[in-house]
Amino acid sequence: MTANSLTVTDNRTGKVYELPIELGAIRATDLRKIKASADDFGLMSYDPAFMNTAACRSAITFIDGDRGILRYRGYPIEALAERSTFLETAYLLLYGELPTGERLDDWVYQVTHHTWVHENLKKVMDGFHYDAHPMGMLVSLVGALSTFYPEAKNGVDVETRRLQIIRLIAKMPTLAAFTYRHSLGMPLAYPDNHLSYTGNFLNMLFKATEAKYEPHPTLERALEVLFILHADHEQNCSTNAVRSVGSSRVDPYCAVAAGVAALFGPLHGGANEAVLRMLQAIGTKDRIPDFIRQVKEGRARLMGFGHRVYKNYDPRAKIIKRMADETFEVTRPNPLLPVARELERIALEDEYFVSRKLYPNVDFYSGLIYQAMGFPVEMFPVLFAIPRTAGWLAQWQEMIDDPEQKIARPRQLYVGQGEREYVPIGLRG
Ligand code: CMC
Repeated sequence: MTANSLTVTDNRTGKVYELPIELGAIRATDLRKIKASADDFGLMSYDPAFMNTAACRSAITFIDGDRGILRYRGYPIEALAERSTFLETAYLLLYGELPTGERLDDWVYQVTHHTWVHENLKKVMDGFHYDAHPMGMLVSLVGALSTFYPEAKNGVDVETRRLQIIRLIAKMPTLAAFTYRHSLGMPLAYPDNHLSYTGNFLNMLFKATEAKYEPHPTLERALEVLFILHADHEQNCSTNAVRSVGSSRVDPYCAVAAGVAALFGPLHGGANEAVLRMLQAIGTKDRIPDFIRQVKEGRARLMGFGHRVYKNYDPRAKIIKRMADETFEVTRPNPLLPVARELERIALEDEYFVSRKLYPNVDFYSGLIYQAMGFPVEMFPVLFAIPRTAGWLAQWQEMIDDPEQKIARPRQLYVGQGEREYVPIGLRG
């Protein structure tokens, strides 16, 4: 018996099994050896919502939820937020190392020169109602990209893959800006190759009649930091969707479209929109105690609080909270900020939240910043999807290269009826 193993006794049979432990886990398939009888399928583990199941080995993002640590490829998120750019961070996530100066220049050049999209995509846009949710449009547009690049399905080929990754990272801001301008009925603005990734995005969103759009440097940098903070977060719901859909070997446009769809949900990328709506509904500080009471009675949820992994202050929330002040210096102050600060203060002292280890997450303050920058709430999850595309693609690529991965296919515990005879409609009760 090795020390790094688990000894299990099956009380149904009295048999003893030794299961190897590797990286702090046993292999779920090793449980299959544990059988009650010769024709038994073997033991399974039951884990709805993947509460304790590692579905992959990954070298991309490290999170220690208890200590509030987040690192990309070993680099603390705080250092990247302070010193890196979004495109450098995206390169790091995708290729494992910070780029040399020459590599970075090439990478930025490549991404900058793939920002244009096929004009036919505008016809897809024309099919949407004026009030279509930008995330609904984005899901469709990213999926539609698949039809323009049929070679993309060959994800195993490294060169093909490299090109699709550049295209997706480059075109996401363009598509995102299209959805925004469509909602406003504004003519679409084309990319400006002389601007940074975030500067160009602001250009495509907000350019009006000026000959050249000049992004405000504070807002450009704030968006850059927000993009770095959102670039990856290991095996969350949307990343799992990208890996799972991508495991069928569909092209990365379809896999990323699945990620965008997952991100649309209010418990994931839609949370900062939900935070703002919550703050708007609370309205003033004096109504906070009543709202907290509703949360404790299970009649409301404190959006922007709690996390499946962080049982401590989300390190991204700390950075965002600091950045909020800088941003509000150049925008109009957000009247909801005092409500948010007071809500956080009260919740952090309240036994209900303390005992459940519910702390502010990345979404608690990001919505306030986005709103102050001029984004409507519907755009918030879109702003999440742009940088997360880098993480999704890094994870997708890692999955493709992992010889242990196959098409994702969970098991179930069947609890339905046994075999029954079909009943003709006239005889049904
Ligand atoms: N407000 C009030 N109670 C909460 C909250 C909250 N935001 N979050 C969790 N709880 C309670 C929950 O009711 C449960 O209580 P009890 O033990 O009495 O039943 C306990 O805390 C454990 O919660 P859970 O639902 O089992 O936790 P989970 O890991 O399944 O959920 C979560 C994680 C993020 C979905 C949840 O905390 C939540 O809904 N938060 C609000 C939505 C939100 O801010 N989402 C953004 C997540 S961060 C962005 C990202 O990384 O994607």
